[in-house]
Amino acid sequence: MLLLAIESSCDETAAAVVKDGRTVLSNIIASQISVHADYGGVVPEIASRKHLEMISVVIEEALQAAGVSFADIEGIAVTQGPGLAGALLVGISTAKALAYALGIPITGVNHIEAHLLAIYLERSVEFPFVALAVSGGHTHLYLVEAVGRYRTLGQTIDDAAGEAFDKVAKLLGFSYPGGAHIDRLADRGNPGAIRFPRPLMHDKSYNFSFSGLKTSVLNYLKKNPHAIEGDFLEDLCASFQAAVCDVLTGKVAAIVATTGVKRVVVAGGVACNSGLRREMARLADQEGLELHIPSPLLCSDNAAMIAVPGDYYLKNSIISGFDFDALPVWPLDSIAERLTSGS
Ligand code: KG4
Ligand code: ZN
Repeated sequence: MLLLAIESSCDETAAAVVKDGRTVLSNIIASQISVHADYGGVVPEIASRKHLEMISVVIEEALQAAGVSFADIEGIAVTQGPGLAGALLVGISTAKALAYALGIPITGVNHIEAHLLAIYLERSVEFPFVALAVSGGHTHLYLVEAVGRYRTLGQTIDDAAGEAFDKVAKLLGFSYPGGAHIDRLADRGNPGAIRFPRPLMHDKSYNFSFSGLKTSVLNYLKKNPHAIEGDFLEDLCASFQAAVCDVLTGKVAAIVATTGVKRVVVAGGVACNSGLRREMARLADQEGLELHIPSPLLCSDNAAMIAVPGDYYLKNSIISGFDFDALPVWPLDSIAERLTSGS
């Protein structure tokens, strides 16, 4: 089945053509990063307007790059949520109009579910697996039993990991989103230079908390204003990144120990982080885990990943029809209802 997939939940307008939910023929991403950079975060209304400008452009490009035309497309998968309501509506309206005009089925996809399954665009992974979803809005641990069957085991009680990276980056004067910038500087720094706290690292839950860590960095900067320069800055970035990665890796280790599930997928924009990739690989070596992290392009927001659950749902006749709405909040645990309700 040849799918057109559309993603517009946040600040990337994206379209992809994917065959059978596995083979990426094209994956076009128009990033709005430069538009929001000066505001220190994504401005929802500006995001919606930019999606409106770019959506037809990326779809056209995705078809061209794949060497196909609208007539070849057999189904449409579009991000239905979670995300910014106005931003989601642009993708959904476009997808509905295309599906209607072409007379093909459409299915709404959960963005986080797509992050968790993006790895299938590169290789097959058996169920069950433990999944760590780390992005700008999510830091969740799931037990994934099958497509559509997700159990939340833990989540952040305040900031998401990506949000913590971006907020600390902002304190250091970097433009939004600064996660990748911290990663680059951290690479040259000493992760043991400053001992930042590891929040909730040893409590019994699988929850996370990153807002206190950001405050620790702020307090450190107040006491050590020179830390914003040169080698000090690299050490600070490396030390902050080490604290985040320790907590993320530590909770994955704890879940693996309790559930006995030794297969782990790490997904979402923060899965691009080289420190996290390294630490997870170290844990996998140490504990004999089967570790899967998609290539960076498939970790951050893209449309090809939307086609993975999209293909599954369409092939299983879970079709959304034309009356579905955007779901700005859409917990993954509730997805299983789709499998029984068929929409
Ligand atoms: O999944 P994603 O592209 O969008 C959301 O669904 O949120 O994740 C974006 C987040 C941002 O917070 C960004 O700073 C972070 O991922 N990020 C990184 C890196 N690359 C992207 N954080 C740390 N290190 C990176 N290399
Ligand atoms: Zn995302």
